[in-house]
Amino acid sequence: MDLDKLMSKHLTRYFDPSRTIPEETLQQLLRFLRSTPTSVNVQPNHFYVLATPEGKERLAANLGERFKDNAEKVLNASHTIILTTRADVPDSHLEAVFAKERVDGRFPDLSKQELWESMTRDFLSLRNYAYKDVNHWMEKQTYMAVGLTMMAAAELGVEATPLEGFDPTSVDKAFKIRETGHSTTVLLALGYPDPKKVYHNPISRFDADQLFTFI
Ligand SMILES: Cc1cc2nc3c(=O)[nH]c(=O)nc-3n(C[C@H](O)[C@H](O)[C@H](O)COP(=O)(O)O)c2cc1C
Repeated sequence: MDLDKLMSKHLTRYFDPSRTIPEETLQQLLRFLRSTPTSVNVQPNHFYVLATPEGKERLAANLGERFKDNAEKVLNASHTIILTTRADVPDSHLEAVFAKERVDGRFPDLSKQELWESMTRDFLSLRNYAYKDVNHWMEKQTYMAVGLTMMAAAELGVEATPLEGFDPTSVDKAFKIRETGHSTTVLLALGYPDPKKVYHNPISRFDADQLFTFI
């Protein structure tokens, strides 16, 4: 990965509609997305991978009135992922996480798994009753997955642009997402830039002395 190049490039707003991510590359990226970590391994996500013209058209048509400018990005991208997050953590979800950890042999012995499960329950109880931020906390996990996947895409030579310009109510309805206990958090458009529309002007960020405090 060329970090210097990454540091000076704009996120892609114009994708080349004629280019598709090779299946092997896509699968590697999805394996990476699946592997991204979440706090207490809560795994609050479901991802809709729009790989067909019909899927992308359905999203483009349901971004909401004020977000129509993102439709072209979705349509021209090779793939767009809808990253959804659970609305809450029912006990059935927690039990499914623990069951999978046991099957995968996450801990060397049962007593450590059981200790982990009780610590996880305590932590979730804190989020539910003290911080009262369970959904917000889970959406932060989703953003970590987006950030990490953007880096993985760069490593694979794929451009990845997160999109927050959409109406979640409209997107959820179009894909029947709320029926699953989730809602849409963010979109990730993936593909290759249109060479005729790549910006070459510098990116603009605050200077380092405004950003970093060394103590
Ligand atoms: C989380 C996130 C959401 C974004 N959502 C959109 C979007 O909906 N539409 C869009 O055109 N750009 C979107 N962008 C791109 C940013 O506006 C852009 O990266 C920022 O203005 C800096 O510009 P640069 O990438 O050209 O340096 C998003 C970027 C991030 C990180």
